[in-house]
This record gives sequence, C-alpha cells and structure tokens, in this order.
Amino acid sequence: MSIVYLDGDYLPIEEAKVSVLDRGFIFGDGVYEVIPAYGGHLFRLEQHLQRLNNSLQGIHLENPFDNKQWQKIIEDIVDRNDNNKQDQSIYLQVTRGPAKRDHVFPDEISQTIFVMSTPMQPVSQEKLNKGVSAITHDDIRWRYCHIKSIALLPNTLMRQIAREAGADEAILNRDGKITEGAASNVFIVKNGKIITPAKDECLLPGITRDLILEIAADAELDFCESDISLDYLQNADEVWLTSSTKEILPVTQLDNKPVGSGKPGPCWKDMLARYQEHKQLLRSGEAT
Ligand code: PDD
Repeated sequence: MSIVYLDGDYLPIEEAKVSVLDRGFIFGDGVYEVIPAYGGHLFRLEQHLQRLNNSLQGIHLENPFDNKQWQKIIEDIVDRNDNNKQDQSIYLQVTRGPAKRDHVFPDEISQTIFVMSTPMQPVSQEKLNKGVSAITHDDIRWRYCHIKSIALLPNTLMRQIAREAGADEAILNRDGKITEGAASNVFIVKNGKIITPAKDECLLPGITRDLILEIAADAELDFCESDISLDYLQNADEVWLTSSTKEILPVTQLDNKPVGSGKPGPCWKDMLARYQEHKQLLRSGEAT
C-alpha cells in the first residue's frame, strides 16, 4: 500500500484528504517537483529543491521547510514505499492551502504539503529501439513557464492533442522558436552538435536537461544552448525529449515525417549510455 506524507502525517494514500477550498484545487495555486529515486538514492535532490525554492518564490509563497527537513520527509517516503529497492518517482506539491475563495492571497496562509511515491515505469526497450513520435504545437501556455506550477491545463491539453494525433509528445513553438515539450525539454542534433534552447522564462529548467549538458561538457562533446527555429527542428538529424521520468527519448517521427534517418541516432545512443553510467554511480552512492 502506498504511504504518503500530508501536512505532517504519514498515512495510506486512500486516507489522505484535502479541503475542497484548497487553493490548489480552486485556482491551481501551487507548485510541484518530480524526483526519481534509483535503488533508494535520490536523483539530484539539491537541484530539485533549489528549483522548488525558485518556483515558490515565483508565486510568492514561503518555503515551508529548509532542505534538511525536505530531505528527511522525502527519504522517509522513499523508505516507506521501498519495494525491494524498486526505482521510485517522488511527487511533491505545495499549495497555498485552504481559504475562502478570493483571487487575492489570504492573510493567513497554511500551506498544504503533499509527498507521494509511485513506482518508476522504465521506458520499454521496444520504444527505445523504435523511438517515439511528436507533433509540433503552438505554445499556448502562460509566460512564466520556468515556474513548475501545478496549473497544467495547457500542458495536459497539448499532450492529449498529441495522443489523439497518434503521437507521444507535443513540441512547443512560441513565435517561431521551440521552447520545450508539453512535459519534457527538447534537444536536437545537427551535424554532430547537440543543441538545446537556453534557459529563460519560456521553459522549465529541467534537471535532466542540465545533467545532459554537464555530461556533454565533461565528455568534451560538441554542444551549445541556442534558439531552435521550427524549421531547424524539422531539419534536425536527431531530436530528443528529456525528463526525470522518461530520461532521454529519441524522437523518430515529427509531424508524421521521419527525423533524420527515421531511427534513433548515434548521438542519442552515446548520450543514453553516458546517462545510464551516471545512474549506476548514483545507485552505488558515488554520484547525485
Ligand atoms: N515534468 N518541461 C516540462 C514542461 C516538464 O513538465 C518537465 C518534467 C520537464 C523536464 O524536467 P525534469 O528533467 O526536471 O523532469 C520539462 C515532470 C516529469 C512531470 O510533470 O511529471
């Protein structure tokens, strides 16, 4: 049975209840994080907690805990849901809590703090061999996409549109520039160079994205952070999607046309192998 943390208590998920007046429910007024735990070891916890802090600041909500307190709760959840060291995905959410419905923030705030674990579903080998498909879509989100807000209606809508078009992800285009995926960051490879958009308010600063750039720098691979036009995306040799839960996925079909050779490319294979090496170090406690 899944044990969750809610406002100071550890309890079975079925017993965890929040008020219908919670501003998370009424306004989508809150932020979240998704943190993998590989063999019980948390992936890049410090970076996730830093991003959480930035997101909270971005919505003018005080961080209820310091990093040590967060670490204790998150590790407790990992331990309490440990199923033979199966990999877990930790979801945590902080909302502005229950209050009389009013757009203006309440004077007295009691945040709702929720942490849960779900088993990590590894991407199937078949999917990795074949690659995934994506469509491009106008980026219909607000302008603070660097905040990991729980208000994800545009993201869910675009993911659904992708699904109904037979694709796995929507890659978003804002004023002619690629920002990211509906729930992932985007990389392309062109003539051997790995390219991803630079971080700004138009995209979420992905923890996986940053690790890939770190790996690329350590291995002295050719890479840069720069704008990617829609046309450049459509003519890329390789396209990748990255996220904590999906790691690095090769896109082999974009808007129903093959990407490059139509097969997962050599740079993706090389980066995935390096990423898996990093995970192995994390499992043995030699990396974060
Ligand atoms: N989402 N961009 C968006 C819009 C995302 O929702 C995500 C991840 C990412 C990748 O970030 P990271 O590498 O830190 O996971 C980029 C999570 C997994 C989710 O909403 O479930």
